Amino acid sequence: MAGKFGLLAKLEFLQEWASALLARIPPPVVHNLEKYHALKKAHYLTAIEELEGDYLEFGVYTGSSFCHSLRCCRSLAALHPKMLGTGFFGFDSFGGFGTLADDDKHPFYEDQNFATRLGDVERRVARVACGLRTRLVPGFFSESLKAGAAAYGITRARVVFVDSDTHASAREALLFCLPIVQAGTYVVLDDYFSYRGSEERGVARAFAEFLEAGRFRARQVFTYGMGGVVYVISGEGG
Ligand SMILES: C[S@@+](CC[C@H](N)C(=O)[O-])C[C@H]1O[C@@H](n2cnc3c(N)ncnc32)[C@H](O)[C@@H]1O
Repeated sequence: MAGKFGLLAKLEFLQEWASALLARIPPPVVHNLEKYHALKKAHYLTAIEELEGDYLEFGVYTGSSFCHSLRCCRSLAALHPKMLGTGFFGFDSFGGFGTLADDDKHPFYEDQNFATRLGDVERRVARVACGLRTRLVPGFFSESLKAGAAAYGITRARVVFVDSDTHASAREALLFCLPIVQAGTYVVLDDYFSYRGSEERGVARAFAEFLEAGRFRARQVFTYGMGGVVYVISGEGG
């Protein structure tokens, strides 16, 4: 074995060093870095397809992924200048999850882990937007999404990012997107494998319900981080 892999296999200290380093990186750091990559890929892949439409993020929290999408869009605009016309819509209660149904309860999805202030997020987004069109919509989805996408002037979605963790919230977000997704829309789903991998709970269930309600077909493009999945809508008639 050692012969096949040469000197590298014998350098145990290198393996120990790499392992010790990786074991110490906090999981949220790994997840967020991969989430940033995933969003960049979604923006890139829609840019080279010259897809038009808006960016919708459900679950904004402190605005880090929202601001990252703004940066990606600007840096990729040379590939598809119409991307600069993207509207960036962020929906969040900015106060956590509210009252959860029993089936949505999860040890990590608790309000105290997601306390933030809308004013701080607005200032952060304003610093990064630099002329890009943004709108943050406060409120629980059961209220803020009730009027439908047309009420916000959204006609088409280019990238949809669902990062609100629970089944009820992901379902509301995805059903809101039914009239605006198109062939080529990228749907980024965080926490897809939560609830011990159940397909009957969480974001996985919400996405299955969305596909069924819209009769869409979707193809998985890649996975990222600690259980995120990215799909592209490939057509209708699912
Ligand atoms: C994981 S955080 C979002 C993280 C953010 N996308 C990022 O990467 O920086 C989840 C967010 O979803 C929001 N949220 C969960 N359920 C919601 C609901 N029903 N209505 C509105 N916001 C909700 C929470 O307030 C929380 O800020």
